[in-house]
Amino acid sequence: MSDQVILFDTTLRDGEQALAASLSVNEKLQIARALERMGIDIIEAGFPVSSPGDFDSVRQIAATIKNSRICALSRAVQGDIDAAAQALNIADQFRIHTFISTSDIHVESKLKRDFSQVLEMATGAIKYARKFTDDVEFSCEDAGRTPIDNLCRMVEEAIKAGARTVNIPDTVGYTSPSEFGGIITNLFERVPNIHQAVISVHCHDDLGLSVANSIAALEAGARQVEGTINGIGERAGNAALEEIIMILKTRQDRFGLHCNANPTEIYRTSQQVSQLCNMPIQSNKAIVGTNAFSHSSGIHQDGVLKSQNTYEIMTPESIGLVRNTLNLTSRSGRHVIKHRMAELGYRDSDFDLDVLYERFLELADKKGQVFDYDLEALLFFENQKEADAHFQLRQLNVQAGSNHFATGSVELQIGDQIVAEAATGNGPVDSVYRAIERATGQHIEIQGFDIGAQGGGHDALGKVDVTAEFEGRTFHGMGLSTDIVEASAQALIRIYNLIHRQQQINAEKSKRAMEEV
Ligand code: KIV
Ligand code: ZN
Repeated sequence: MSDQVILFDTTLRDGEQALAASLSVNEKLQIARALERMGIDIIEAGFPVSSPGDFDSVRQIAATIKNSRICALSRAVQGDIDAAAQALNIADQFRIHTFISTSDIHVESKLKRDFSQVLEMATGAIKYARKFTDDVEFSCEDAGRTPIDNLCRMVEEAIKAGARTVNIPDTVGYTSPSEFGGIITNLFERVPNIHQAVISVHCHDDLGLSVANSIAALEAGARQVEGTINGIGERAGNAALEEIIMILKTRQDRFGLHCNANPTEIYRTSQQVSQLCNMPIQSNKAIVGTNAFSHSSGIHQDGVLKSQNTYEIMTPESIGLVRNTLNLTSRSGRHVIKHRMAELGYRDSDFDLDVLYERFLELADKKGQVFDYDLEALLFFENQKEADAHFQLRQLNVQAGSNHFATGSVELQIGDQIVAEAATGNGPVDSVYRAIERATGQHIEIQGFDIGAQGGGHDALGKVDVTAEFEGRTFHGMGLSTDIVEASAQALIRIYNLIHRQQQINAEKSKRAMEEV
């Protein structure tokens, strides 16, 4: 049996479907590029039949990503498979992933069918998907709670019907490692054609066992593992792919398995996913938490100083957490920034050097020294902006003190008009938000407001994340500046732009619907 583990990332599908505010196409593309850079074999980019937006993003990702194979999800019905194939067929090679529930509870209560009907639907869907590609993956949803006889039968029939990969999900995160490993062992012992397919696993984290279950399955013979960056996903999330990668690398001695991922891309990818998805990482999270490599107790610090391996089984550098060595200032030229970005692993096409350099100079004037994380934060912030944004912040002023109401004034460009407004509020951010609301003439209900720092020190870039609901949908905006009030204003303006775009899409849809009547 091969010692190669195929890495299947579903951050953009299982992860994204659990977010309060869905990602834009541009944001999904940024994540897909980071996953490609990290060496992920298969990227599940979405569920095309679920919405035109999902269809569009899968298609754009399939058109852009060349070094990872793009996959899309479909239920075991022809309409879903058609949508997946149409979204993916812009790529030379792609995977269709089709699934149906196999546990008694799902078959009876959710599908309201019997097992033989489900078997027929599954094999029919696999055969249909094979008309579009040789690379078909089939998942037995809720396999963890499926009677083993039924599971063996389903896997055998799925392989006969043409599935090249058969996925065994623990959909509700119910099993224990020895139990889940035992299911995989059973399949290898009882399914006669099992070696004609790759056995994959997909574990959820409801009992905190998703990574342990995935590793137990790999020990039992599974050779594809599915997960998400930072473990984001339905409910308690999915198996964290960065943890699995580091387990395979760090414990090569025990498992003897390897994967294609470049672990030095882990930290950056994790940060990007956390920021774009507005999902903070707990500080003690394995591998990517801020405390994952810091030693607090005196005994541990003493040990590490004497010999690193006393308490360190991995180095921060191994996941790409490098100390900032290059100190950039406003005297650094464009070529230095270009060179540094290349060293950080970015391609020229990942950024607009003119824009980045301009933002870099502005920041260097304010901060003096600019570090790698500042550059990456600027890049990230610029990438989320749209060039033709309807609302743009041109100027902002605030007057605030401990004994007075704050007064904020803003000048916005709204379409081709310049609008200036002022307002008082119970603090600088409140006054500016009121002024923005006056200028736009539109009230937005803010749900979440978080302030954080990007980098260290009192001159760090302030980062503000705002979530707001509009017509039943949640939108997320991020702002970044050395001035926290300005960052707050940027985050709100971003939400105004997202809502404006949504309104335009809705207007176009109803116009089309009217024309069809
Ligand atoms: O958790 C699950 O069972 C899934 C399937 C669609 C693979 O996400
Ligand atoms: Zn799942």
